[in-house]
Amino acid sequence: MRYRNLGRRQVSSLCLGTLPFGTLVDEQTSFALLDRFTERGGTFVDTANCYCFWIDGCDGGESESLLGRWLAARGNRDEVVLATKLGALPAPGDGEWPTNREGLSAPVIAASIHPSLRRLGTDRVDLLYGHVDDPATPLAETVAAFGALVREGLAEQVGISNQPGPRVVRSRELAAELGVPRYTALQQRHTYLRPGPGTDFDYQIAVDDPQLAYARTQPDLTVLAYGPLLNGAYTDPAKPLPEQYDHPAAHAQLSVLSEIARELDATRNQVVLAWMLGSEPSVLPIIGVSRLTQLDEALDAVELRLTPEQHARLDAARG
Ligand SMILES: NC(=O)c1ccc[n+]([C@@H]2O[C@H](COP(=O)([O-])OP(=O)(O)OC[C@H]3O[C@@H](n4cnc5c(N)ncnc54)[C@H](OP(=O)(O)O)[C@@H]3O)[C@@H](O)[C@H]2O)c1
Repeated sequence: MRYRNLGRRQVSSLCLGTLPFGTLVDEQTSFALLDRFTERGGTFVDTANCYCFWIDGCDGGESESLLGRWLAARGNRDEVVLATKLGALPAPGDGEWPTNREGLSAPVIAASIHPSLRRLGTDRVDLLYGHVDDPATPLAETVAAFGALVREGLAEQVGISNQPGPRVVRSRELAAELGVPRYTALQQRHTYLRPGPGTDFDYQIAVDDPQLAYARTQPDLTVLAYGPLLNGAYTDPAKPLPEQYDHPAAHAQLSVLSEIARELDATRNQVVLAWMLGSEPSVLPIIGVSRLTQLDEALDAVELRLTPEQHARLDAARG
């Protein structure tokens, strides 16, 4: 494993996503994945207060609760950098998700942290994200409410997910103006393949070049990528390329990826992760896995080194 700074913390250079843990992935397997991740040096895990409310019989607290049971069973809370998110649960009342999500108002932020802490069995989270942008709440209100949680010691650092780049920049400016902590983590959709022109991910926001250019100038801001492996489509022939990524240029990009995977005797998944880690700025992948073999494959990618020429070839194909 390798380590890097995220704001004031050292974290493993891969983060383990736990979205399906405790629902689609059973408790025994989830514990085994978390154990293997930490045995191999992983320290950084990602959850949210809404995983997986969309499954029948679930309320969204399942992943946090599973993590809480695992942390209690292993007694390792202080060795783990725990990130969770709030604001994307369905709001009470009518309306369809995601339009009716709770959002990032001050009352939602102040109230949501406590059930998360209870489920996780901890008195603070190390990183707390706003899960999805909330255009209906003034940015200053959101930033100040997160700042209050840091002041109270309930969150060590704060970040944002699925927010358009210009609003991230403005939020960080507002935090400086208000004298509260700035977001140190930006979690967006990102992978090697570029989405097709004009792609709409609904509430999800993909990393774009202006966001990366901004992050390059901000040493205290880490960009994190969810969905880096496109749900397995890079390596598993049974998994179709998601339609947003299935466009003519993608096939040329996949050919270069395959070529470099052959040169390195690696898998395409591993080349995607190594490319991301070696980019400027280095992007921190949040890996999604449901089996130990998938986890080992992803962890092995940390040691994979692309030559500058291979990295440049991947960048050139990406355009
Ligand atoms: N901020 C947000 O809005 C947001 C959104 C989504 C996710 N996230 C976070 O990011 C994490 C990862 O996201 P994701 O699950 O969408 O990531 P992903 O990397 O796109 O997909 C993960 C899935 O890829 C498959 N996979 C992994 N390695 C494989 C391999 N070697 N061969 C074949 N298939 C393989 C597995 O599917 P199978 O289980 O089918 O085998 C795994 O569940 C989540 O757990 C969550 O923490 C955040």
